[in-house]
Amino acid sequence: SYVLYHDQIIKSGSIPVDPEDRGYLFGDGIYEVVFVYNSKPFGFAEHFERFEQSAQKLDLSMPYDISTFNKLTDELISKNNIVNGMIYIQMTRGVAPRNHLYERNMQSVVTGFAKSVSLDSIAASQTSGIQTYLTEDIRWLRCDIKSLNLLGNVMAKRKAADYDCQEAIQHRDGTVTEGSSSNVFIVKDGTLKTHPATNLVLNGITRQLVIKIAKDTGVPVLEEAFSVEELLNADEVFITSTTMEVTPVIKLLGTRVQSYKIGPVTTKLQKDFKQVIE
Ligand code: PDD
Repeated sequence: SYVLYHDQIIKSGSIPVDPEDRGYLFGDGIYEVVFVYNSKPFGFAEHFERFEQSAQKLDLSMPYDISTFNKLTDELISKNNIVNGMIYIQMTRGVAPRNHLYERNMQSVVTGFAKSVSLDSIAASQTSGIQTYLTEDIRWLRCDIKSLNLLGNVMAKRKAADYDCQEAIQHRDGTVTEGSSSNVFIVKDGTLKTHPATNLVLNGITRQLVIKIAKDTGVPVLEEAFSVEELLNADEVFITSTTMEVTPVIKLLGTRVQSYKIGPVTTKLQKDFKQVIE
């Protein structure tokens, strides 16, 4: 397979790994995951915009503009013969002798890869729904940045899997924030609710698209924080992400337990979402 290294697409296995890359030492870097449908990256401009914002928030310098990233992404897709799949792009602050203090204007290290994904596998959980595990959000206060520091997310996902759940639903002091790698929506009396795009959640590209689709089709949306109690009393619950699209939640486990039906609002948004990607 072929991978991205700086502004080149090269054979995998030939990327030099420097132990003093700040990505390894401090998790000092950012990433994006972009889905590929029919050999085309979906929402590339939106993902790149967030990538730039993450870079700016961390005082990282962007080595290339969107046209270069777009060209490299297309090459990654074509050289790996990806029809449906995902692209991972990462950028670390670069290589320097280990020191918490970073110097400005370092040479960022850009890497990436592509993987085929079977749409059938994600379709299965979209039809049947998933189980989720309610857990405390122990992450930092800049979850709006798509940083490589994902330990809180990783720990939440493992815990969820240990209870036979496909995703965690995190809460801070009883306020639901987001999943370990997805945003969380509830439906109550026909109205959608999801955590506002503050520093406490990642402003998902899928989240933004679902909100737009809902508003365009007359489904009221409230970008408002909601409580674990509201989660328990919701008519429908679903999660959104690049890799999961719109996936219904049928069960909540953990300190509180609840079952949900896959309802009409979720099903409608799934259908509308499919139409946008086609
Ligand atoms: N994760 N919240 C978190 C913490 C995430 O990691 C993600 C995505 C999302 C959804 O964002 P989007 O709709 O832009 O994919 C929300 C990616 C897919 C990942 O880390 O694999």
